[in-house]
Amino acid sequence: MSHVPVLMGEVLHALSPADNETYIDGTFGAGGYTTQILKAADCRVIGLDRDPNVEAHVAKVQGEFGKRFTFVQTEFSKLDQVTGGALVDGVVLDIGVSSMQLDQDVRGFSFMRDGPLDMRMAGEDPGAGPSAMDAVKHLSRNDLQQIFKVYGEERRARRCADFIVRAREEAPIETTIALANILANALGSGGKRHPATKVFQALRIFVNDELGELVRALLAAEKIIKPGGRLVVVSFHSLEDRIVKAFLRRRSGEVRGGSRHLPPHSASVGANENAPSFKLTKRSGVTSTQEELDANPRARSARLRFGVRTDAPAWPTREDGEDNDVLLRAPSLDDLRKLAS
Ligand SMILES: C[S@@+](CC[C@H](N)C(=O)[O-])C[C@H]1O[C@@H](n2cnc3c(N)ncnc32)[C@H](O)[C@@H]1O
Repeated sequence: MSHVPVLMGEVLHALSPADNETYIDGTFGAGGYTTQILKAADCRVIGLDRDPNVEAHVAKVQGEFGKRFTFVQTEFSKLDQVTGGALVDGVVLDIGVSSMQLDQDVRGFSFMRDGPLDMRMAGEDPGAGPSAMDAVKHLSRNDLQQIFKVYGEERRARRCADFIVRAREEAPIETTIALANILANALGSGGKRHPATKVFQALRIFVNDELGELVRALLAAEKIIKPGGRLVVVSFHSLEDRIVKAFLRRRSGEVRGGSRHLPPHSASVGANENAPSFKLTKRSGVTSTQEELDANPRARSARLRFGVRTDAPAWPTREDGEDNDVLLRAPSLDDLRKLAS
């Protein structure tokens, strides 16, 4: 199934493409956003995706728009490294997996399709890191439990981890269906959603360091967007949305909010002493219309947030010796271990 872009009209409204401007689409995917941005104005788009399998879509957009479009295969956390130092007029991110990734058995993202337990968005690329199979094979019961609890918000994380550890002592867990069956045994299959839903989400987030990527991308966007430029982020679950919300609220000078998922020392962040680097025009974010929800079930949990860059400098980050971003930091495996109950 081809990927249907979510909140497309709302993304264009927030980004407001204009002639001669340059944007970064950090999650190129099937090129849905990029194509509409390039159609909306005589502008340029630099598309990024860590997945090498998007190449056919890249070729199509290049065929249609020529030099107005360039593509770089990289993580969106490096979006400030793809312009040779030039600033851009906007950055758009549409976080998560694409329909193409979910639909390919061999990628191992879906518990509905039998395939190797992989889940790496960068596929077999060197540097793609450990797969979900490696995680399920090597991580301790405690680490698995914490990953399922924090990244999957799975209430019965302990039980899932127990069943996995017991099963892997009998035989290696190498396929999506093998893991889905273990989870169905652990949780029963009475509910509305497949019992493996949350654990699969958790493993995907862990394997791809999705929250860490998001945090680093927001900080990179702050550095590379011109005054007056737009940052537009569409996310699909509460962990991501909480990070985007915290970032934009803090950077716009509003009272910061905490996160119950971050370690206790997060609460000790000092007062906000930096000039706002973003202006917020809509505090609560934008969700899909009923019409879109009826047409595209993937839109159900989507939320768009955006900010307009001010002319204040980017806030110092931890690399600069400051600690402004503790609240934005994605929980690491070490944090998860500390939280172990
Ligand atoms: C939801 S899809 C984007 C769909 C796109 N907006 C469209 O209209 O076709 C997300 C894409 O972002 C990519 N992606 C996810 N995390 C990434 C990261 N950290 N760096 C680069 N690409 C990433 C995925 O590989 C996937 O292709």
